[in-house]
Amino acid sequence: MKYLIANWKMNHTVAQGIEYLKEYQSLQPKISKTKVLIAPSYTSFFPLSQIIQKETIPVSLCAQNICEFKRGAYTGEVSAEMIQEIGCKYVLLGHSERRHLFHESNESINKKYQMALDYSLIPIICFGETLPVYQTKKTVSYITEQLLFLKGEKPPIFAYEPVWSIGSGLIPRIDEIETIVDFMKQNFPASSLLYGGSVNPETIQSIAKIEGLDGFLVGGASLQAVTFIKLLSSFENPGNDR
Ligand code: 13P
Repeated sequence: MKYLIANWKMNHTVAQGIEYLKEYQSLQPKISKTKVLIAPSYTSFFPLSQIIQKETIPVSLCAQNICEFKRGAYTGEVSAEMIQEIGCKYVLLGHSERRHLFHESNESINKKYQMALDYSLIPIICFGETLPVYQTKKTVSYITEQLLFLKGEKPPIFAYEPVWSIGSGLIPRIDEIETIVDFMKQNFPASSLLYGGSVNPETIQSIAKIEGLDGFLVGGASLQAVTFIKLLSSFENPGNDR
């Protein structure tokens, strides 16, 4: 399965999200092999899911995070059960902004992973190295450690997002991404692997040609429907450079 995921992060109010979906639908993107997911803020889930159903828009919603605990006195948190209840099937786990800005540990991400499975959510596990790790060529050992808690598990979807690439306009070399693809196919042969980090209509052209890569997790360039559809079109037709 191929995936293109729009991670809106903390952008788009309900009204803006509705406008986005209407524009997306009116542009009639041609999709033959890609599953399109949108990860909005929690407040947008219910209104957006209603529009998606009413207008039969071929996108699914994805949560940006869940709480590692089941329920109880955890002010400000949203549980896996709550996400499941509104019909959302996917959840991002361990996004680098969660790891670095909100100090999420591998231990906490592991608990969230188990919680997602308990509530039949499909976890999309994010991982990736920081700039100093990249510069000292220690990426593979760093991500090995990040993913150690998944030993023996078969997570369905991963997203490789080098921290230094997110929002910076910088991307790794193609052969560097290929190394990670090979590493993941060896260690998690049944899982899909996406790339994220400064994906835009230009950078996607070369990355989309990487064999074994199953899609993209996109931040900034997913915030406008028209640009996101350009990415979709490049992904579906990687040979077409327009
Ligand atoms: P950018 O596409 O803005 O670099 O963000 C990537 C990302 O963090 C997606 O989750």
